[in-house]
Amino acid sequence: MRNVTGAVAEGDDFFNRINEMELFWRNLETDNLLLLAPRRVGKTSLMRKMAEEAAAYGFTTALVDVSDCADELHFVQRLYAAILEGPLGDPLWHQIKENWLGKTIDRIQKVGAAGFSLEFRSDGADWTRLGEELAGALSKLEGRWLIQIDELPVFVLKLLDHDVPAGRARVREFLYWLRRLRQKYTGVRWMLAGSIGLDTITTRLNIADAINDLHIEKLGSFEAPVADAFLQALAAAHSVQLGEAVRAHIVTRTGWTAPYYLQLIFHQLRGVNGEVTQSDVDRAIEDLLGPHHRNYFDYWRQRLYEELGRPDAELAVSLLHHCCRAPEGSTRSTLSLVLACPIPDPTAREDKLRYLVDVLQNDGYLVEADGRWRFLSPLLREYWLRRLAPQEDRND
Ligand SMILES: Nc1ncnc2c1ncn2[C@@H]1O[C@H](COP(=O)(O)OP(=O)(O)OP(=O)(O)O)[C@@H](O)[C@H]1O
Ligand SMILES: [Mg+2]
Repeated sequence: MRNVTGAVAEGDDFFNRINEMELFWRNLETDNLLLLAPRRVGKTSLMRKMAEEAAAYGFTTALVDVSDCADELHFVQRLYAAILEGPLGDPLWHQIKENWLGKTIDRIQKVGAAGFSLEFRSDGADWTRLGEELAGALSKLEGRWLIQIDELPVFVLKLLDHDVPAGRARVREFLYWLRRLRQKYTGVRWMLAGSIGLDTITTRLNIADAINDLHIEKLGSFEAPVADAFLQALAAAHSVQLGEAVRAHIVTRTGWTAPYYLQLIFHQLRGVNGEVTQSDVDRAIEDLLGPHHRNYFDYWRQRLYEELGRPDAELAVSLLHHCCRAPEGSTRSTLSLVLACPIPDPTAREDKLRYLVDVLQNDGYLVEADGRWRFLSPLLREYWLRRLAPQEDRND
């Protein structure tokens, strides 16, 4: 098992998640799935692992990441490419090249044994029909299909285009279209994933029914015993001496034991000679929070800008600046005060606060406990406090 610190964990590098995957496969017997999970918790790795094992469950899979799709047509094109390149691409190709699609697609040709190059005519190609033809063709093939779509909410937020009315209309049309596909072609199962909650977005747009057929599941951090077993497995694979008490110390200091953080801390410990001590762990964490490792954590700030855009990202960041001040976080009324200056109108402010707090909670930044919103990950909180919060907001 390699010590993977950022790339997708695949094959033998992927640890456990056995119960979660069993549950998801069970759900997929009867339902389509919406996987909600915080950032960096291992969604993409888990979906790839499920794709690797799909045949045993009677599914043929296509996994697509749609975070960089510019529009609906591009989204449909991404689906075509993934499905045609898969193991059943050939029979499907024979089916679709003869019909309406053959004329609509400007250039679709098989390149070599397993590659397709396809381009849709950009002038008015009807993405709704292209998508339906694809799902229809899939459902005529033998066997069951599982289409896994990663980062769907990022794409939806792009369509939303900072909440302009035309953006809202596009999101509605797109999500209702996707729902139609799910309902009409029951031979195809869907697994949709992303860190920003699609449920938050649809509730805000008053179209909760666009996803109410989806079964929602969550993916969290490793439970303490799994985290311990994971550290043991890494230690054994890399000949690092990590005693039980030290492993427990890592788990305590990590607080929120997503595999990513365990991988990062373990990576810092690999250079230690002899038995690793608790002080080594404290030093490793101190080092991780230093400026030369900022890319590990800064990602969390950057992604807010990519996903929410301005000014929402700025508002979310100002809420986080406030919440990081104390380990126990901030009350809702103080957070409302943080937004008082940029949003003077109380109703609009309350609306925005609800939305942003929902996003930050779904995304794994904040968690509510005892009426306060605090950072879910103590490590991220420490980083935010030291490196991102303005000087006057810091305790130190
Ligand atoms: N099951 C696992 N076993 C080992 N490491 C894992 C596992 N799942 C995740 N990781 C670790 O977490 C990191 C992030 O994983 P992944 O990219 O799958 O998460 P993600 O939830 O898709 O992240 P993002 O929100 O950025 O898309 C990996 O680089 C790896 O270090
Ligand atoms: Mg991912």
